[in-house]
Amino acid sequence: MPASAEKIQLVNPLVPEKGKIIKVLRETPDVKTFHVTTAKGKPFVPMPGQLAMLSLFNIGEAMFSVTSQGERHLEFSIKKTGLLTDALHEADEGQTIGIRGPYGNGFPLEMLKGKDLLFIAGGIGLAPVRSLINFCLDRSGDYGRMQVIYGARTPADLCFKEDLFQNWPSQGLEVNVTVDQGDENWSGPVGFVPSYLEELNPEPEGKIVVVCGPPLMIKFTIQSLDKLKFEHKAVVTTLEKRMKCGIGKCGRCNLGSTYVCLDGPVFTLAQLDQMPVEL
Ligand code: FES
Repeated sequence: MPASAEKIQLVNPLVPEKGKIIKVLRETPDVKTFHVTTAKGKPFVPMPGQLAMLSLFNIGEAMFSVTSQGERHLEFSIKKTGLLTDALHEADEGQTIGIRGPYGNGFPLEMLKGKDLLFIAGGIGLAPVRSLINFCLDRSGDYGRMQVIYGARTPADLCFKEDLFQNWPSQGLEVNVTVDQGDENWSGPVGFVPSYLEELNPEPEGKIVVVCGPPLMIKFTIQSLDKLKFEHKAVVTTLEKRMKCGIGKCGRCNLGSTYVCLDGPVFTLAQLDQMPVEL
């Protein structure tokens, strides 16, 4: 990068770094995982739950969770939902991409230490949680029992199947997967995540819950967690969908006096109970 461009980047936090898509993997019919790197390698080292702004020249930019990371690249699992994501899904390996970050506070790692962990996710909501699960599995001595409850519309819509059915169980993670609607090959549970959660009936003692997914799933999952007597201070979720500029400039993420991009996007339910927010 020319020195002048580097200088602009230093003074203007909205200028992205030039990156490249080096690998594209299809997860589901409408979700792909993109491996992104820059000339210097990994653009930054994110903590689980942090995000980056990805941009395609002449099309636009948006905030995405870092799904995972390798030695020299970051991974983003992205669902087709509009102009930018449609264009990303058309992109091939070698495509130039803008990247800036990291943004957000990430998951509260200190709070999770020494606790049993229950990860609950729906659909593409498993993307930010995946980075946390991998982080905790790499340091499993720091945490108690870990369990995942994950759901998607159909078996074809399940993301990260290799993690769910091979990698994570082989590392001692209890994985419980449900689908809203099965198919001829599906012999697992059928039903929505909140009712499956109630059926599994986890004990709240000593446990921290991390919930991520579509708004309706989160809303009903919280009702189920209330029924199961989980305290709101022990339940964590992320409002990452509200992140726009990521740096406190656009004023599109605030909840009362709280800026999601500066103070979040990860909050406990007890914190959210104090804010004017409907999940
Ligand atoms: S995302 Fe722009 S101010 Fe928070």
